[in-house]
Formats: sequence, C-alpha cells, structure tokens
Amino acid sequence: MRFTWLVAAAFSVAAVGFAQQDQNAPAQSEKDGAVKTGLYTVVEGYKVDRATMMGFRAWRAAACDRCHGANQQGLVGPSLIDSLKVLSKDDFKKVITEGRLEKGMMSFKSSKMVMENLDNLYAYLKGRSDGAIKRAKVEELKE
Ligand code: HEC
Repeated sequence: MRFTWLVAAAFSVAAVGFAQQDQNAPAQSEKDGAVKTGLYTVVEGYKVDRATMMGFRAWRAAACDRCHGANQQGLVGPSLIDSLKVLSKDDFKKVITEGRLEKGMMSFKSSKMVMENLDNLYAYLKGRSDGAIKRAKVEELKE
C-alpha cells in the first residue's frame, strides 16, 4: 500500500515536472502536491488555507447543500461544479446577495456569515469546480 503510494507520488511529481502546463490549470508545486492559486491553497486535495476553510464553514452554516447537493453536484439547484466554470465572481456574489427569488435561489443578504465570507465561499467553490479540492469536506491546513 505504502509502496504503491510512493510510486504514485513519485510518478505524479515527475508528470507535473514534464507536463506542458495548461494555461488555465492551477499552478502546481512539485514538492508536496500542493495547488496554489490566487484564490486558494490546497494540499493533498483536501487541506486548505484558512480563508478557504472559512468559505467551507459558510457553505455549511448556510446549508447550501440542501439545494446544491452535499458535493455541489446539483439537486433542486444547479451543479456548482459546472456553474463556477462559467459564472464570474461578480455574478456569483450578485446571485448570492440578491438571490433569484422567482427561480428558487434565496437571497443571503441577511446572513452575516455568508456576507462576510463571499470571497472565501467563492474560493472554496472555485477550488471544487477546478477539481483542485477533491472532496467537499475540507480541513484546515496546519502551517
Ligand atoms: C432553497 C434552495 C437553495 C439554497 C438553500 C441555495 N440555493 Fe443556490 N440556487 C438555487 C436554485 C434553484 C438556483 C437556480 C436559479 C436559476 O435557475 O437561475 C440557484 C442558483 C445558484 C447559483 C447560480 C448558478 C448559475 O449557474 O447561475 C449559485 C452560484 C448558487 N445558487 C450558490 C448558492 C450558495 C453558495 C448557497 C448557500 C450560501 C445557495 N446557493 C443556497 C437554490 C438554492
């Protein structure tokens, strides 16, 4: 098991080293499999920086998963994995602040937790959408 993991890790480090970087792909650190963008840092697919962690807490506190699914895959609301590939950050903030009431998306204007963490919420969901954050439940990265 451990040996397999080591081989896999060594292989992925080599792959990252040799692969032509896709312009849109998040920058990869060759050392520890960390993904660092201007928005978030994630290590091993689930350990995230403090701000991104706050985004996840806001996601939980607001129970967005009731409508968008526990893994952001979509339920009565659309998949945010898909949405965040196209939705701009400004539009993201607008839809969460104002809602789209006639379409079933509520406004979170009165939620202090959500309003104070709009950027963090965006970072968390963008990381999920990019595929850099590999599972919905994240943990805070200890530095
Ligand atoms: C009561 C159900 C419900 C809850 C709770 C909810 N949403 Fe939504 N959301 C929806 C629906 C339905 C839509 C689709 C609206 C439309 O068709 O334009 C939507 C749309 C969105 C969109 C726009 C997607 C796009 O492609 O345009 C975003 C982003 C979003 N929600 C994020 C969130 C976040 C973040 C939370 C928690 C803070 C949340 N939603 C909570 C139902 C919900």
